[in-house]
Amino acid sequence: MAVAKLRDSTGFETGFPMSDIQVLERQIRDAIAGAADEAALESVRVSALGKKGAVSELLKTLGSMTPDERREKGALFNALRDRVAEAIAARKTVLEKEVLDARLAFERVDVTLPPRPQAAGTVHPVSQVLDEVTAIFADLGFAVAEGPDVEYDDYNFTKLNIPPDHPARQMHDTFYVAKQADGSRHVLRTHTSPVQVRTMLKQSPPIRIISPGRAYRVDSDATHSPMFHQFEGLVIDEVTHLGHLKWVLEEFCKAFFEVDAVEMRARPSFFPFTEPSVEWDLRCDRSGGQIKFGQGNDWLELAGSGMVHPRVLENCGIDPARYQGYAFGGGIDRLAMLKYAIPDIRSFFESDLRWLRHYGFAALDVPTLDGGLSG
Ligand code: PHE
Repeated sequence: MAVAKLRDSTGFETGFPMSDIQVLERQIRDAIAGAADEAALESVRVSALGKKGAVSELLKTLGSMTPDERREKGALFNALRDRVAEAIAARKTVLEKEVLDARLAFERVDVTLPPRPQAAGTVHPVSQVLDEVTAIFADLGFAVAEGPDVEYDDYNFTKLNIPPDHPARQMHDTFYVAKQADGSRHVLRTHTSPVQVRTMLKQSPPIRIISPGRAYRVDSDATHSPMFHQFEGLVIDEVTHLGHLKWVLEEFCKAFFEVDAVEMRARPSFFPFTEPSVEWDLRCDRSGGQIKFGQGNDWLELAGSGMVHPRVLENCGIDPARYQGYAFGGGIDRLAMLKYAIPDIRSFFESDLRWLRHYGFAALDVPTLDGGLSG
């Protein structure tokens, strides 16, 4: 019998008789066992079972055999191929597990370790106050709602009962965005009140939301920044009145300034989207370089508010004969300046590291009502 002596690129010898097949199998098995990673195993697989692999070359020789020989050798060769494939698969499983084990060991995090004593970053006072305000209103049962900074003119003004030629538009020094294809213009929202509109358009009463976020006006001095932060509140239900509004704001002030009592003063005001409109001031004492609430003869502007104008409800698809509601809005940055004695609003946005280290909050101190708001 002619013995085919084949040698593939990795040096596996192929051929028969039987003993040669056994030698070949031993060589392949040694190579499989020696493959240190999946890439090495893959090249062993290619040199054994690939198109030009040693086992494949063996199988090709079947074509030139007599039917009897082919029956006998075919069974042997195919069994060899199956055993090799099985050995490769088994080795692959082992290698994969090794890789996974190494990765798990490498990526293990000991969650019981204490935090690093000097965490490098701090929470910005504006973020801190946003979180505090949200925590307080969440505790009062308000859901958090959000809207985009770039807003439809319609939502920022028209639906809030400020039609295009209304003089109240001049109260807002608006940043306009370039004209859209249809001629309309988007604006950088001048207040968070368009979130009222967005909420009413997609949700039916009862509604109780708080919406903290950014607003923009063309304005810049020690107490005004062209980008600033507001919080907006909206409650719509079948029975709501100014008394509820007052109570909610009072609870908010006590929790926010962390005092047992505050005194609020209501002043008549005007906003096109509320009727009547009320501005709230907080009694405070600024003598002695410190601000104290609930005492003294100074008043601090807290928030604009009012009962939602029936026309706004109508514009947003809510029946004013059945529902009314109240809304309020105030400045977050101003609250932060007051509570944390920060004199100039512009310093909030200068990213001065020394300032951030001084006024920033520890990153792991999340404000909660029971855990303490400001640490
Ligand atoms: N959007 C008003 C402002 O920016 C505040 C406000 C909100 C007033 C809600 C009434 C009701 O001044």
